[in-house]
Amino acid sequence: MLLPWLVAALAASAAALNNGLALTPPMGWLTWERYRCITDCKKYPDECISEALIKRTADLMVSEGYLAAGYDYLGIDDCWLEKERGPDGRLVPDRERFPNGMKAVGDYIHSKGLKFGLYEDYGNLTCAGYPGVLGNEQLDIDTFVEWGVDYIKLDGCYVDEAQMDEGYPAYGKMLNQTGRPILYSCSWPAYQEDYNVKKKHIFTPDYESISRHCNLWRNWGDIDDSWSSMKEIMTWFGDNQDRFAHFAGPGNWNDPDMLLIGNFGLSVDQARVQMAVWSVLAAPLLMSTDLANMRDEFKEILLNKDIIAVNQDPMGKQGLRVFKNNQTKISVWNRQLHDGSNALAFVSEREDGSPRSYSFSFSQMQLPQNSYRVQDLYHLEDDRILKSMEDFEVRINPTGKYLHYIPISPLDKLN
Ligand SMILES: *[C@@H]1O[C@H](CO)[C@@H](O)[C@H](O)[C@H]1NC(C)=O
Ligand SMILES: *[C@@H]1O[C@H](CO)[C@@H](O)[C@H](O)[C@H]1NC(C)=O
Ligand SMILES: *[C@@H]1O[C@H](CO)[C@@H](O)[C@H](O)[C@H]1NC(C)=O
Repeated sequence: MLLPWLVAALAASAAALNNGLALTPPMGWLTWERYRCITDCKKYPDECISEALIKRTADLMVSEGYLAAGYDYLGIDDCWLEKERGPDGRLVPDRERFPNGMKAVGDYIHSKGLKFGLYEDYGNLTCAGYPGVLGNEQLDIDTFVEWGVDYIKLDGCYVDEAQMDEGYPAYGKMLNQTGRPILYSCSWPAYQEDYNVKKKHIFTPDYESISRHCNLWRNWGDIDDSWSSMKEIMTWFGDNQDRFAHFAGPGNWNDPDMLLIGNFGLSVDQARVQMAVWSVLAAPLLMSTDLANMRDEFKEILLNKDIIAVNQDPMGKQGLRVFKNNQTKISVWNRQLHDGSNALAFVSEREDGSPRSYSFSFSQMQLPQNSYRVQDLYHLEDDRILKSMEDFEVRINPTGKYLHYIPISPLDKLN
C-alpha cells in the first residue's frame, strides 16, 4: 500500500525547482515600496514608474557601488503596463513611460551588468488593475523571455487562494521549460496567510511545496515606510517561524519584504535593525529607495560588507528569534553561520529614551557554550571577549544592536 505513494512522492520531488539560482538570498532593488504606482510623469518626472527611473537607478547601482556589494537585480514592480493587451494578445508596456518597450529596458539593465526583474500577477488583473497573466500564461512567459527577463515576481491579487497550490507550481514549470534561468518570486503564501486572518483558518500554506517551487516567497503583508510596519513583520516572523524557517536554504528563501532603508520612515538606528534582522533571517535584500538622494549614513548601512556577508552566508540557514521578553520588549535573533560563528541581533521595541543594559545567559541567546570574540558589525563598539558560562551584558538603544560572535580557540585565549 505504501509503495505507490512513495513513488508519487519521489516523482514530485524530482520535478522540484532546480534552476541553479538564488543559492544565497537575492539582492537588488525593486520599485514598489518607494515608488508605488506613481504614473504621472508630468507632475512627478523623477518618481514615476518609467524607463527614465530604471535607467537612472541602473546607472547609480553601478556608480555608487551597490552592484559591487552584491545588489544585482533591478526590478520593476506593478504599474508598468498599458491597461489593455495589444491586438496580438500580448502585454504592452505603458507607451509613454516605456517609449522604447521592455526589450530596450532589459538590454540597458544587462549592459550595466545587472539583471532584469519584472512584476506580474497570476490573476485576471494585477493588484493595481493592469492585465494579469491568467489565461495567457504561456504567451506572457514567451514575451518575458524575448525581453530578457531574469526574475519574475508573481503576485496573487484576483486569484482564488485555493487555486494557488496548483497554479504557482504550474507557472514555475512553464518558466522552467523556457530553458532560461528565471528567478521565481511567489506571493502565494502571503495571500493564504492573509486569507486565514480575514476568514478564519481555511488554508495552511504548504511551505514544503512552496519551497520546492519558488526561489523566494512573500510570507506576509506588504511593508510600509515605518518602524511600526517593520515591527509587525518582525513579530509575525518570530511568532510563526516554526512553520517555515527550516524551508529556507540555498535556492529557496522566506521573504519579509523590501528594505525601507534610505526612505522617510526609519531612523538610522531603526535602519540598522532592519539590515541586521533581515540578514539573520537570510532574507532577500531588496532596496526600494531613491539612490540619487541617499544620505551617507543609510548608504553605509546598505553597503556594510560584514553584514551582507552574514546575509549571504553560504550555508543558507535562516536564523530565529531565540528570545523575547514582553515586559522589557527585548528580543534576540540568532543565526548560525557556516564557519561555526553566530550572528545575533538584539532588538528593543522600547520607545522610552536612553540606552539600557541587559544581561543574557548563553541559553537565552541559544549560543553553544564556548568562548567568543564578540564583534559589533556596525563597528560602533570595540571587540569584546565573552567567556563560557558568563552572562553577556549588552547595552541596547531604543531600538537595537547587532553583534557577531566568533568562537575563539584555546590558543587565541592565551593571547
Ligand atoms: C528545469 O528543471 C530541471 C529539473 O529540475 C533542471 O535540471 C533545470 O536546470 C531547470 N531549468 C531551468 C532553466 O530552470
Ligand atoms: C477571471 O475572469 C474570468 C473571465 O472574465 C472569470 O470567469 C473568472 O471568474 C475570473 N477569475 C477570478 C479569480 O476573478
Ligand atoms: C507575549 O505577548 C504575546 C502577544 O501579546 C503573547 O501571545 C505571548 O503569550 C506573551 N508571552 C508571554 C511569555 O507572556
